[in-house]
Amino acid sequence: MDRKVNTHEPDIMTSLNDTAIRYNTDKRSHGYLPIYERLFEPFRFLDGVTVMEIGVLGGESLRLWHRWFPKGRIIGVDNRLPDGTLESLTADGIMVHLENQGDEVAMDALGAAYKPQIVIDDAGHQSSPQIACLKALWPHVAPGGLYIVEDLQSNDRDEAERLLRHLEGWTRQVHRPGQAPWGVASVHHWPGLAVIAKA
Ligand SMILES: C[S@@+](CC[C@H](N)C(=O)[O-])C[C@H]1O[C@@H](n2cnc3c(N)ncnc32)[C@H](O)[C@@H]1O
Repeated sequence: MDRKVNTHEPDIMTSLNDTAIRYNTDKRSHGYLPIYERLFEPFRFLDGVTVMEIGVLGGESLRLWHRWFPKGRIIGVDNRLPDGTLESLTADGIMVHLENQGDEVAMDALGAAYKPQIVIDDAGHQSSPQIACLKALWPHVAPGGLYIVEDLQSNDRDEAERLLRHLEGWTRQVHRPGQAPWGVASVHHWPGLAVIAKA
């Protein structure tokens, strides 16, 4: 697998929210970016920091991460891409894999290959594949890393209930430390977002 790492000068004077103006991703209108700027601060300048986003569409948010993490390795995963997207992202140094997030075997293999510090699930917003993806990738998230599930507001009511009930199990792990292999340090919620931090 290619392990290309980004190497451009960061613009340290511009916020993540303002940086995103140039990219056509709804993360800005959802209000996630000021939260992400704080959460990503310890990771931003790490050499080879690996950011994996599930749900690529045209690749706009991947391009934002590519800009934001100057020494980052940006990985996208999607099961269906618009024509030409894979080629143009690859040409810009962003790696993309065509996989279904509900395929635990495939997601486990991607997690093992990349060991991401940050995972963002912005894919199908259906609880079963989301849960399968979380279970498969979590063991591979680097210590101190983050797993973010986006757009909890856009799951339909039953879907959101199911996912939130599942996340309650992860929250309980925070209060039962030492129960390997979970290693859950915290579970935070913001409007539309759940963020699980690894110990
Ligand atoms: C909301 S869009 C991603 C937007 C992108 N992250 C951004 O902010 O610019 C959701 C993407 O998830 C993909 N997707 C939907 N279900 C999926 C699944 N089961 N596995 C992988 N990708 C999926 C869709 O093909 C679509 O491209």
